[in-house]
Amino acid sequence: MHVDPYEKFWMYAAGALIVLFASSAVYSAFAQANHPPSHVETIDPTTARTDPRFTELGVVQRADGTVEVVVLAQMFSFMPGEIRVPAGRPVTFRLTSPDVIHGFQIVGTNGNTMVVPGYVSQFTTTFREPGEYLIVCNEYCGLGHHLMYARLIVEEGA
Ligand code: CUA
Repeated sequence: MHVDPYEKFWMYAAGALIVLFASSAVYSAFAQANHPPSHVETIDPTTARTDPRFTELGVVQRADGTVEVVVLAQMFSFMPGEIRVPAGRPVTFRLTSPDVIHGFQIVGTNGNTMVVPGYVSQFTTTFREPGEYLIVCNEYCGLGHHLMYARLIVEEGA
């Protein structure tokens, strides 16, 4: 079968791009621990504010040494607005929304999830670098979307 040289070139170029994109996804998954959040836990959004899982908002130290952070994402704020966690220890975030879809992105880290009403979003990550991080909502949620942010403070040796 005859294939025109230009067509052959673009076939190989398209193939090379697919390999490049697939390898960057594999690299990001293994080297940077970027994974899709896959926790499936439902909650009634109309009663999320009074649900026992979300009445105590903020940071909780668990008996096994890990840290849990419970956050309510709502139009147009995160509750609590300031979160303090220790560096170098696994931190599990649990979030839900009583209204619309929000995002929860800890800028400069691999902490990033959608917050969908009806579900509890959960992910665990470890912050190696102490410092202050900005948390932004990265899903357009209404007129005050750009005002929806919080602060994460990672403390050394806590
Ligand atoms: Cu919440 Cu955008």
